[in-house]
Amino acid sequence: MASSKRSFVLRHTRLRPVPGLEELRLHLADEVLPLWRAAQLETGDPDAPLPYWAFAWGGGLAIARYLRDHPEAVAGRRVFDLGAGSGLVGIAALLAGAASVTASDIDPFAAAAIEINARANGQRLAIVKRDVLDDEPPDVDVVLAGDCWYESLLAERIQPWLRRARAHGLDVLLGDPGRRYLPADELQGIATYEVRTTTELEDMELKLGRVYRLT
Ligand SMILES: C[S@@+](CC[C@H](N)C(=O)[O-])C[C@H]1O[C@@H](n2cnc3c(N)ncnc32)[C@H](O)[C@@H]1O
Repeated sequence: MASSKRSFVLRHTRLRPVPGLEELRLHLADEVLPLWRAAQLETGDPDAPLPYWAFAWGGGLAIARYLRDHPEAVAGRRVFDLGAGSGLVGIAALLAGAASVTASDIDPFAAAAIEINARANGQRLAIVKRDVLDDEPPDVDVVLAGDCWYESLLAERIQPWLRRARAHGLDVLLGDPGRRYLPADELQGIATYEVRTTTELEDMELKLGRVYRLT
């Protein structure tokens, strides 16, 4: 099963540099909708999630740029990448010197993509394939979450979980390109980047990706 997910990812993507982060390469697709259809056929599930894992999203790109500029945010520390998708944020954390990264995503294709992408960048990370949002915060130093505020239900569940993580003393950094459900008033903006997303689903190719700290 896992190997069929891996071969699906490899069949439908191409390894290429990430715009603005050319030192990092990911297996990326060109178009969302044909790939979504292929994932529905592969799984036999008409409700299969969008293949987020095949694209680099604005929020993740912003955090990855921030970590390149500020490696001290993660260097030598244990990191959890929530909603990892392709693994972009977690891989950027490892390249910035994180001691370890655990990437989490509920989409089984994402788990395969994260593993393939980590290896393509000479990195290793742990992968949690289940929904952790009802669990206690993980035993790490830093939580990173890139572009997870695109759906109201998900945003409503993520925010209390991140607040609990912060209350446990973890640093929490978020990346977001201006999604509707981000509660920006609870957050401290710490950096802004012009990011070039790799999905045609966005209304603009160039977006402002912001990095926030949960205070
Ligand atoms: C827009 S993508 C962002 C991916 C990556 N962080 C980036 O910025 O490129 C959001 C990801 O969150 C994942 N996701 C949705 N609900 C989740 C949950 N409850 N726990 C973990 N991941 C989840 C989706 O499967 C998707 O891969």
